Amino acid sequence: MRASRKVRVAILISGRGSNMASLVAAAQAPDYPAEIVLVAANRPDALGLATASGHGIATRALDHRAYPSREAFDAALQAELAVADIDLVCLAGFMRIFSAGFVEAWAGRMINIHPSLLPLFKGVHTHEQALAAGVRLHGCTVHYVVPELDAGPIIAQAAVPVRPGDDADALAARILVQEHRLYPQALALVASGQVRLEGARVVFSEGLTGAEGALLSL
Ligand code: GAR
Repeated sequence: MRASRKVRVAILISGRGSNMASLVAAAQAPDYPAEIVLVAANRPDALGLATASGHGIATRALDHRAYPSREAFDAALQAELAVADIDLVCLAGFMRIFSAGFVEAWAGRMINIHPSLLPLFKGVHTHEQALAAGVRLHGCTVHYVVPELDAGPIIAQAAVPVRPGDDADALAARILVQEHRLYPQALALVASGQVRLEGARVVFSEGLTGAEGALLSL
């Protein structure tokens, strides 16, 4: 990452955008190492677009249904990211799979938050999956994006207890609180260069304990 300026971040969303809002709030701190310069959605009705505009951030709505192929959508998105001179892409509830070419173009420069303790419970309905499996700890993960879904090297995780009587909504709400703590912390680690990708492994800078990427809320 360039040292002379803050890391320029685009956040991609598909809906509510509460994780996006937590990143925007964190990036308002003067010493935060990243600035959020663009919020883009693949759905024009994504609620988070209005939130981002309200903070004075440039927004783009690229309706994926208007493109003839996955590659055509990804090319349009790539063009927006290039115009905005984006260094790093954060997926925040972006519910669309990319073409392999797009993922390769952003290798090591695209991160995602997923609502489970990966590698457990990939895909959708993660809270239902956790309840069905009977785990006592559940949580969320920030990871680099690789072509295989929800499989990239892990940067940071937060864990919460599964309480007796929890349903998927209760669990989702408890985890969302931690998502909003974890994602800004993980983005800061990446944007400051304290965490980097070496091959298929995430490496922490000397002096860090690793606890910087591990939150526990009991
Ligand atoms: C979040 O819980 C995020 O972890 C999840 O979608 C929600 C988006 O909420 N992402 C995924 O499931 C990605 N596979 P938000 O729009 O309020 O940030």
